[in-house]
Amino acid sequence: MEIRYKPEELTRLPRSVRYEPGKVIMIDQTLLPSEFKEIELRTVDEVAEAIITMKIRGAPAIGAAAAFGLALFVDTSKAKTKEEFMEGFEKAYEGLKNTRPTAVNLFWALNRVKNLVEEHMEDPLDEIKGLIVSEAQKIADEDVEANLRMGHYGAEVLPDGNVLTHCNAGSLATVQLGTVGAVLRVMHRDGTLKLLWVDETRPVLQGARLSAWEYHYDGISLKLITDNMAGFVMQQGKVDAIIVGADRIVANGDFANKIGTYTLAVLAKEHGIPFFTVAPLSTIDMNLKSGREIPIEERKPEEVLTCGGCKIAPDVDVYNPAFDVTPHKYLTGIITDKGVVWPPFERNLKRLFKKE
Ligand code: MRU
Repeated sequence: MEIRYKPEELTRLPRSVRYEPGKVIMIDQTLLPSEFKEIELRTVDEVAEAIITMKIRGAPAIGAAAAFGLALFVDTSKAKTKEEFMEGFEKAYEGLKNTRPTAVNLFWALNRVKNLVEEHMEDPLDEIKGLIVSEAQKIADEDVEANLRMGHYGAEVLPDGNVLTHCNAGSLATVQLGTVGAVLRVMHRDGTLKLLWVDETRPVLQGARLSAWEYHYDGISLKLITDNMAGFVMQQGKVDAIIVGADRIVANGDFANKIGTYTLAVLAKEHGIPFFTVAPLSTIDMNLKSGREIPIEERKPEEVLTCGGCKIAPDVDVYNPAFDVTPHKYLTGIITDKGVVWPPFERNLKRLFKKE
């Protein structure tokens, strides 16, 4: 596969999260689409809070933000000895780890930094500190490169025409470009994406607030629909392919993604529409055998009881799972940064990791 575009040829958006000594800078996604604002965070706790409250969200973006949180720990630590430093590091690691449970990129990124620290335990403290900061930066840079590759792989296998997406797996959900976002952007540049259908994605509206905003910003022609319109649009023959992101793909190909993904997958099968997920290897958790093992985050009732800050229901009991699990039988293929994985997923995912 040949990389034909540079990131700056695919998007006008800046990175959603970046690090400068003493601060983590991120786009506050809770303010979009009304306001585009970058915020500066100066402590580990502020980064953890930003992840919990979804100022930053999307599996790869959460991973990069958490890694930068550890870099901030380096900048703010007042430890005088290696032991004191490691005690604080463990606390920072735990605090960031306990923010959101479903997206595996969070744990992947934190463990990548932690494992490196453990491998270098005998080195001088200043060197360990330098390693933490540079590893966090590497995680962010590699995310953009992975997205670029997925974008080009995906554009090779998606049919020309109208594509439907759910939630936001765009630039905002990653460091830059997006997973789904990269595929759509390459197709847009190639002229093969005719129209993008964007599901609004209740309850938090990542489709309406974030996907519609960022794809419109980059000049992609789109139509926004409410989630319950997707089936009718498919029945009318107006969707040629569906692509969604993933928060965790497990060894047999089952995957967790934003609530509502499973419904789309079943509808896609009924209508013979190819259904892809797009995710880097950091989203694949080979330690879990089936989707039933994925922890599903439940969020607060207010997200369902309100919409855009307005109360839309009486104070009744609410069930608010943030993700659902799509069984692999509904998947046409998994677009990764190492190529497209086709069924049988269990065998081919194993092979993908052997190639590593
Ligand atoms: O709750 P969110 O907004 O973090 O959920 C995001 C999604 O479900 C995305 O589709 C997924 O993280 C993939 S992002 C490239």
